[in-house]
Amino acid sequence: MVVEYRVSPKIDDQALSELHHRAFGSDSTAVVPWTARLTRYSLCWVTAEDESGLIGFVNVVGDGGVHAFVIDTTVLPARQGEGIGRRLIEVAVATARSLGCEWLHVDFEPDLAAFYLGTCGFRSTKAGLIRLAS
Ligand SMILES: CC(C)(COP(=O)(O)OP(=O)(O)OC[C@H]1O[C@@H](n2cnc3c(N)ncnc32)[C@H](O)[C@@H]1OP(=O)(O)O)[C@@H](O)C(=O)NCCC(=O)NCCS
Repeated sequence: MVVEYRVSPKIDDQALSELHHRAFGSDSTAVVPWTARLTRYSLCWVTAEDESGLIGFVNVVGDGGVHAFVIDTTVLPARQGEGIGRRLIEVAVATARSLGCEWLHVDFEPDLAAFYLGTCGFRSTKAGLIRLAS
């Protein structure tokens, strides 16, 4: 199946919410206001679609300067392992660079090191995190 990758297309909030819930194994059916969030806070986002609809997504938020952050990388469970996640990140990298960013950050659980550091080419760094909600 041909997969089409697009940068910052119009988003169907319900379709992206369903993809996100399925990829992260959530039981929620809540529709997240993605369009409002992305248009207000994101530098860009990348989608992957085939004939069935949305099958992959990644969000890139920026600081208005040279830094950008990858979050919410998601591929439909049935389509994982086909290189779709790698291609989403490749397009995100090229887009962030073309928009003037010099650094692209990501953090992740240890089991995703093979994906981000191996497959996608991120360099390993030390990073810090504080959980603000209890
Ligand atoms: C992480 C994710 C986006 C990867 O997308 P993908 O399309 O499956 O990845 P690709 O096919 O491009 O990359 C494949 C390689 O990445 C690594 N990889 C991919 N998914 C992985 C996972 N869940 N755990 C560990 N390694 C993974 C493997 O090394 C794999 O190599 P292999 O095919 O030789 O085994 C996808 O698994 C996903 O949506 N996971 C659930 C949501 C999530 O945790 N997102 C990350 C938020 S930080």
